[in-house]
Amino acid sequence: MNVLILSCGSRNKIVQYFKKELNGKGKVFATDCSILAPALYDADQFFIVPRIDAPNYISEILSICKKFNIKAVFSLIDPEISLLAKHKDEFLAVGTIPIVSEYELVEMCFDKYAMVQILEKNGFKTIKSYIKKEEFYRDVDLGKINYPVFVKPIKGSASINISKVTSVEEIELAFKKHDQMMIQEFMDGVEYGADVYIDIISSEPVAIFTKEKVVMRAGETDKSISVKDETLFKLINDFVKTAGFKGMIDIDIFKVKDNYFISEVNPRFGGGYPHAYESGVNIPKMIIKNLQGEINESVIGQYAEGIRMMKYNEIKII
Ligand SMILES: Nc1ncnc2c1ncn2[C@@H]1O[C@H](COP(=O)(O)OP(=O)(O)O)[C@@H](O)[C@H]1O
Ligand SMILES: [Mg+2]
Repeated sequence: MNVLILSCGSRNKIVQYFKKELNGKGKVFATDCSILAPALYDADQFFIVPRIDAPNYISEILSICKKFNIKAVFSLIDPEISLLAKHKDEFLAVGTIPIVSEYELVEMCFDKYAMVQILEKNGFKTIKSYIKKEEFYRDVDLGKINYPVFVKPIKGSASINISKVTSVEEIELAFKKHDQMMIQEFMDGVEYGADVYIDIISSEPVAIFTKEKVVMRAGETDKSISVKDETLFKLINDFVKTAGFKGMIDIDIFKVKDNYFISEVNPRFGGGYPHAYESGVNIPKMIIKNLQGEINESVIGQYAEGIRMMKYNEIKII
């Protein structure tokens, strides 16, 4: 049973975890468009492929899937997740299962404003958000929202062009400098991350690992501590079922004055997933079980509280 990890970049741990779980039962294949992606060299076999926007990209990946009898494929970068979801049927036709949610849902994840609206429509607590600055100014005048606020790109990632803002001038500047920005109420509280696996056969959330983000670096969780709270598990469970996610996802959540607010979803392994794995939440194992045609039992909350994770650098020489 072979697995293909697309755009592996520097996510060496993910490659290693799959190798360990497959343990001779199959191979881990990896791709990237650069020979300088260190995770390639941890795979059993790797391919340098065109960039994901190249016209022949999907056909190249499909031919790898066919030739190497790939049972499942997933990507570690956002834009490619949409692409996989869009071409799902072509992968299924060559006998490869793309581990990804439905296309519309994936697209919604990359539009933070659409996400807020879906949350609101389904009765979840949401972060007050604006895409029209005039509407925001009007609400400031009406006393419905106050500075500071948070400004970020609607389709942003990796914490690029985000800022805490305290005045009209700064809002104007941010909107002038960048397109497609949104204004959000400033969440003055604690930030959490959830690593979730939704069984691809039963569609049930079967693993939820939650951590408090202690230090962030370059948009990624750098240091975190595992936490457990039944209220939070229930919120996540209800949300992923309502939205209809499949496979592995990563959710950003804020806690402000004892209320949880879902902020965004990355429909892939989050950068902080190693914290969950090292704490015993083994999603690769669950994926492999699904690929063998078996449904996973829930392990939600089956890990210890207070486990601390610290990231550090390694090097690869070729
Ligand atoms: N409304 C907000 N209030 C306070 N901080 C925020 C808010 N939105 C985002 N942030 C901070 O900015 C970071 C990046 O924002 P996020 O919406 O998660 O985008 P991305 O991770 O895709 O860059 C978050 O991890 C959080 O620290
Ligand atoms: Mg985020």
